[in-house]
Amino acid sequence: MLRRPQSPTSLVSSKKDSGSSKTTFSKKYTLHFVLVVCVVIPAIVTVISLFEGMITIRTLQAMSSGVYMTQNGSQLRGDCSMTAFHHHSNNDDTFATKTIVLDLQAMKDYSQQRGLQAMHHIKSLTVPNYEKFVIEKYGQEHYQFLHYLTSQVLYPQSKDENDKVNNNVPCFDQNDELSSDEQQQQDSVPHHIVDIGTRYVASSLALGAPVMKAVPRGNGRSDQWVAASSHGIPVWTFDLARSRERFQAFRGATEERWNSDRQKANVTEIVFHNLDLLKVPLDEFKTYMSSEHVHLIVLDTAHKPYTIPFEREFLTRLLEINYQGLLVLDDIHFQEEMKRWWAELQDQAAKEDSPFRLYDVTILGHWSGTGLLDFRPQGNVVLNF
Ligand SMILES: C[S@@+](CC[C@H](N)C(=O)[O-])C[C@H]1O[C@@H](n2cnc3c(N)ncnc32)[C@H](O)[C@@H]1O
Repeated sequence: MLRRPQSPTSLVSSKKDSGSSKTTFSKKYTLHFVLVVCVVIPAIVTVISLFEGMITIRTLQAMSSGVYMTQNGSQLRGDCSMTAFHHHSNNDDTFATKTIVLDLQAMKDYSQQRGLQAMHHIKSLTVPNYEKFVIEKYGQEHYQFLHYLTSQVLYPQSKDENDKVNNNVPCFDQNDELSSDEQQQQDSVPHHIVDIGTRYVASSLALGAPVMKAVPRGNGRSDQWVAASSHGIPVWTFDLARSRERFQAFRGATEERWNSDRQKANVTEIVFHNLDLLKVPLDEFKTYMSSEHVHLIVLDTAHKPYTIPFEREFLTRLLEINYQGLLVLDDIHFQEEMKRWWAELQDQAAKEDSPFRLYDVTILGHWSGTGLLDFRPQGNVVLNF
């Protein structure tokens, strides 16, 4: 096809067209550039950070205390605002197979400063005339032992003394699903610790007490002690339905006010139950005591296991639900009935098919006698004293 020669005008206009198409071209790319810089990159960054955020939340959740443990398949919310999680759990060190070492020298070393400071830290949350018992030495009173057992033996915090209290651990949606790895990790962390016999809350406070840290004040002044971290596991405490003794620990304040002080002190959540543990249906009893949710139960009640057979019947119920955790018994050498029961338990433990092994740990606990029963079929307790 013959092409018509272009007139100068058309050449000009053609040049003009070419110039305008260049302008359109560069406008187009400028627009793309702006689009990439202003929309696409921020969008990618947002997606990545959201993704990272999810991972962080999931990691925290997996590391966290049993506040988020599943109970009957559903996740529970807890006192999320005050917990600090540095729990070291891994699949080789699950509670079921863990060797629990109770070492007198380690207890002594811990007690001299940090253990004692922890007790001073919590003492104002019980009744005034119990303060002297709470700060008493291990082997005399059991409060330091209970604190040591949870914070140092069962749920040790990060070894880094400089750990800070994390007051901003988020709560999670009940439906937030966990991967099987995360679930396994959570399964090695209990949902709560049980303390039976609340009275003035002293033992519950000891079980939930934080680890203390010395902060130098300079100018020759002695260190200041602050609550550094907490295992974060709530304490569920039980007393008789009619019992109102715990209100005395609030020292005239409301329970809300006491709770807020407890939270400020970084003591883990304390949940009060007033009911008859022998009368609640077995399914309900399991939600309180099952070793799926609980590693440690402390029993310190009427101390009349034969005339008011609560302790012995409670033990029967634990066996009925196949409890596979630890049980601390207070006052095993206190009076005749307790001595007799302890002897009966010793006989039972000596049998080959006994569901538990037992240890006398009075030297670490209460002058009136402290016993430890281990119901874990594959667990091991080593006493170094
Ligand atoms: C020795 S005091 C507990 C002291 C507390 N554990 C501490 O160390 O600070 C015994 C408590 O057990 C409670 N108690 C007695 N029988 C009980 C039962 N069947 N269930 C729950 N609590 C019971 C009593 O009301 C009493 O407050």
